[in-house]
Amino acid sequence: MATVAKSRTGCDVSGLLITFEGIDGAGKSVQAEALRQWLEAAKQRAVLLLRDPGTSPIAEQIRRILLDRTNGAMSPWTELLLYEAARAQLVEECIKPALALGKVVICDRFYDSATAYQGYGRQLDLAAVMQANRIGACGLVPDLTILLDLDVEVALQRKGRLALDRLEQEERAFHERVRQGYLALARAEPDRVKVVQGDRAVGTIAAEIRQLVTAVLGG
Ligand code: TMP
Repeated sequence: MATVAKSRTGCDVSGLLITFEGIDGAGKSVQAEALRQWLEAAKQRAVLLLRDPGTSPIAEQIRRILLDRTNGAMSPWTELLLYEAARAQLVEECIKPALALGKVVICDRFYDSATAYQGYGRQLDLAAVMQANRIGACGLVPDLTILLDLDVEVALQRKGRLALDRLEQEERAFHERVRQGYLALARAEPDRVKVVQGDRAVGTIAAEIRQLVTAVLGG
C-alpha cells in the first residue's frame, strides 16, 4: 500500500500526497475539489485540500505579490524563489503536519509548477530550478501527480481575457512552453506523473482520476 509520502529529509510521514498540475485553465481546481468530495464521502481517510502558492497566511501574502499585475518588473529568479518560499511555508505549516496524522493531502499545484513555469516557461536553468524545488518542498515528493493536459488555445479561451493575473497574462508561447514542460516531466517520471486529457466532460475526467487515486490508495 503506497501510503507513505516519500521524503528525502527522512521525516516521518504516514499520509498520502496527491498533487494536481496543468496550465492555467486546465481545470485542476475543479477536479481537485471533486476528488476531495469523493474521498470525504468514502470516509476512509481524513482529507485536506490545499493550494500552492497559498493556504497559510504567510504563503497567501507571497501569492499576492507573485500574481500582482503591477509587479511586471519582477526578475524570473525572484519569482522562482518567492514560489519556493511560499511552498516551504505551506509544507512546514500545513502539509507535513497533515501527513504525519495520516491524512490524504490534495495539493492544487506543487513544485512541478516551478519546473514547468519557471524552468520551461521562463527558461531558467532546469538543474537550478530542480535544486530550488528540493529546498522549497523540504524534500517531499508527491505519491501521485495528476497532470491535466489541454490545448493552450482552449485553456486560454476558458480563462477569458478579463482580470488575468501576472502569470496568466503571459503570451501564448509562454503557456505552450509550460505545457510542453509538463509533458516532458510526465515522460521523465511516468510512475508518479499521470497525464489525464482535460478536454472532456468534468465527470469523465473525475472518474479517470478516481481510478488513478484508487490504484495508489490500494496498491
Ligand atoms: P493557480 O492560479 O493555479 O493557483 O496558480 C497561480 C499561478 O502561479 C499559475 O499561473 C501558475 C503559477 N505558478 C508558478 O509559476 N510556479 C509555481 O511554483 C507555482 C506553484 C505556481
